[in-house]
Amino acid sequence: MLSHTEEIKSKLDVVDVLQEYIKLIPAGKNFKALCPFHQEKTPSFMVSPERQSWHCFGCSEGGDIFSFVMKIEGIEFIEALKLLAKKAGVQLKPQDPKIVNRKNRLLDINELAKKFYAYLLKKSPAAESCRAYLRERKVSEQSVSDFELGYAPNFWDKTMSFLASKGYKQDEILASGLLVKKDGSSRCYDRFRNRLMFPINNLHGQTVGFSARALDKIDSAKYINSPQTDIYNKSEILYGLDKAKNSIRQKNSVILVEGQMDLISAHSAGDKNSVATSGTALTETQIRILKRYSDNLLLAFDADLAGQNAVKKGIDLAIELGMDIKMIRLPLKSDPDECIKNNLEDWVGAIKNAEPILEYYLRQAIENFSSETLSGRKEIYNMCFPAIWKVPNLVERNYYIKKLAAVADVPEESIRDDIKKINKNKNYKRQEAEIKSGKAGVKKERNLQIAEEMAAILLKFPSIFLAADFDLKILADEKIIGFCGRLSDFYKDEQQNFSVDEFVNILKQEDEALFNLSQSFLLLAERDFLDFNLKQAEKQAEKNLRELKKSYILKQKVKIEKEIKKAEENDAEDMIGELLARAKKLDERLLKLEL
Ligand code: UTP
Ligand code: MN
Repeated sequence: MLSHTEEIKSKLDVVDVLQEYIKLIPAGKNFKALCPFHQEKTPSFMVSPERQSWHCFGCSEGGDIFSFVMKIEGIEFIEALKLLAKKAGVQLKPQDPKIVNRKNRLLDINELAKKFYAYLLKKSPAAESCRAYLRERKVSEQSVSDFELGYAPNFWDKTMSFLASKGYKQDEILASGLLVKKDGSSRCYDRFRNRLMFPINNLHGQTVGFSARALDKIDSAKYINSPQTDIYNKSEILYGLDKAKNSIRQKNSVILVEGQMDLISAHSAGDKNSVATSGTALTETQIRILKRYSDNLLLAFDADLAGQNAVKKGIDLAIELGMDIKMIRLPLKSDPDECIKNNLEDWVGAIKNAEPILEYYLRQAIENFSSETLSGRKEIYNMCFPAIWKVPNLVERNYYIKKLAAVADVPEESIRDDIKKINKNKNYKRQEAEIKSGKAGVKKERNLQIAEEMAAILLKFPSIFLAADFDLKILADEKIIGFCGRLSDFYKDEQQNFSVDEFVNILKQEDEALFNLSQSFLLLAERDFLDFNLKQAEKQAEKNLRELKKSYILKQKVKIEKEIKKAEENDAEDMIGELLARAKKLDERLLKLEL
């Protein structure tokens, strides 16, 4: 019988699973992507459908769907198992005690509550006021069912007693956020009463919390939300993303709105690539999540809100990450929901005419502050500069520097100086932070990277073993040296009959570590040398070998220098002479390589 993991793996495709989290770009028979586990500008993350594996050549992470999901979700294996089992439609034995962990019970509670509220909205006579409210706001039956809207009854304990009847203890229900504890007592009561319920889902469509709207003007808040819980992290949830992600990928753009109602209206207007921030700050995590799906961001935010710091910081980060951001400008005093319902054409037009974010900032700054006064020009500068210096594209950045220079009446050169100053400071701060956190040097050593590249080239073009003259020991790393030694022996025996598949097959049977290495080198070869012919490969190999030789010799030199120092301390004259001669030889060899 297949194990759970094997069964799940047989039913899921690595590409489908990873695509839920990151944007995959076809590359030959594989896919590449920007690595979600480290910062990078060019993709070194590879996914192989054939091998059902992934590997990042930048940070050396790799594995299968399970390790990917564990890493990106920050969850343990058992949780990843449950998540992928659900996706694969594989039944895990429910008695398995390890699986019934705390988070899963919280998910179960939220799921039950969602169904409870949805049932009441549909069937309960007491929900008539809520149904009337939905009609009045023109929310269709379809939307109610798509978004699983519900009604929380007007009682202090109905949710609690319903969940208790399903076997959950008060403590757990409290931890799910559905209850509130009475001050100074152990008694709890339902958090949501007489409200329209919007279930909030995570990326996988699992309900992790609720947002609840009052049905009429009442004294308490218009919306009440679930608190932060073990399964609900507000800074990383975007309302509607579970439903929008495919459309975002397809359209290669995402529309960001503020509220649940805005989102539901946008989806029913056909803009299924919309997600909502739920009226909070736009966080760094949210931006990074969206960037996995698309680089094109359309903001349908209230003009005031877009200027506020909590949102502007998010926007500035998106600019820095190279995303293309535009503002959707709606008719005065209307939000997307109102605009869509009042006049759909306005909405469609506003999307079409969305304004590049920096144009928008400049225009807003000029409209709000006078460029006639010194203090006005200062305000304009302060509003626009933080966005402009982050623009990664030089042409675009220069364009806006010119504009800002004109309206704020400063020389372009001064703006460029300011940017230089900030960048210097930023680099310094980053290095400092890296050293403090012990992360410095996490990036692979350059010659290790080159050695890996060499192994990949040799695997694809093993005749280079004959053409190039080099000692395997320059390959920087014992494992790579071992691998290439094995490859070289095999090739020299086979020559014309050499077949990569056969070589890999033998490794598979004889040496697991070498086999695993061969898999990453094959991926690397496909990434970097897919369209190389032998001549190009030889040229690249020659370049790499020269660098490897150089760094090998340099390392020897450092060693000898240390020995010389020691010999000097011990007054070992003879030894010093010999060591100096060796150092001189190394210098000569280095010189030859430079030529
Ligand atoms: P808005 O005040 O703009 O409300 O808040 P809205 O989206 O237009 O709501 P409707 O159309 O009146 O129903 C935007 C978002 O901020 C959050 C909600 O997520 C809301 O959708 N919010 C607002 C709260 O969390 N609490 C509140 O009291 C108000
Ligand atoms: Mn609204």
